[in-house]
Amino acid sequence: MNGSDDTRMTATTPVTGSDPESGLEPATLPRHVAIIMDGNGRWANARGLPRIAGHRAGAETVDRITTECARLGLDALTLYSFSSENWKRPADEVDALMTLCHAHLVEQRERMIEHGIRFRRIGRREGLPASVLDAADACEEATAAGSGLTLCLALNYGARAEIVDAARRLAVEVRDHGLDPAEIDEDRISASLDTHGLPDPDLLIRTAGEMRLSNFLLWQISYAELVVTDVAWPDFGIDGLHGAFRQFAGRARRFGGV
Ligand code: IPE
Ligand code: IPE
Ligand code: MG
Repeated sequence: MNGSDDTRMTATTPVTGSDPESGLEPATLPRHVAIIMDGNGRWANARGLPRIAGHRAGAETVDRITTECARLGLDALTLYSFSSENWKRPADEVDALMTLCHAHLVEQRERMIEHGIRFRRIGRREGLPASVLDAADACEEATAAGSGLTLCLALNYGARAEIVDAARRLAVEVRDHGLDPAEIDEDRISASLDTHGLPDPDLLIRTAGEMRLSNFLLWQISYAELVVTDVAWPDFGIDGLHGAFRQFAGRARRFGGV
């Protein structure tokens, strides 16, 4: 996430009253936003560039959107960076994505600390390069005391794999630690997922127009509001984010009631 200087995180103070820049009322904002950052490849193709150029441009969007979510005082932002299905891509694209991810984690660590951002990684460790895991672990450790936005990066993440892992953990609890199967309820399943401790996302944004979930946070988004924009991730800006928040603010959330 190699952003140029103007897109890098700059010192911010979370908004407390009505936000003068966006006109958004803090009370109407989602606490946790999850984003399927799609369309980097199409963005690059449309410009006659290699797909990796789209991923590089997308990394700058990550900085922009993270900074704004921190500024607006959100609790959490979860970004789908690499799915457990993305290993099917050509090896050179996968390698380039891992290199980009490593560089971003190394470069942004100090900035995350400055902004009070608490970093966290979700997804299976197995399969990820040691360099990426080390950089992610170092970011988690260095930002653990952050009291602002939790930035959660889904890397080698698949919701079904996450649920399988949770089921295995609970089975071990039953077998070895006397957990009564009757005590397995929704809270305990939530607490066994990679996202334990985070509120469920209130809002799921997908860029680049596809109307699907692509194995993202299937348990956690049961009642999330969905916003799909045609804009490709590298072109997604603060205005687009505010637009999604406005749509969210206008939704009537019934949770099955009337
Ligand atoms: C999203 O952009 C980034 C990742 C999935 C890693 P894509 O690379 O999927 O872009 P499109 O969908 O091909 O345009
Ligand atoms: C979803 O995008 C995964 C990420 C954004 C990391 P994909 O591009 O992999 O999704 P599909 O293949 O279009 O469903
Ligand atoms: Mg895609």
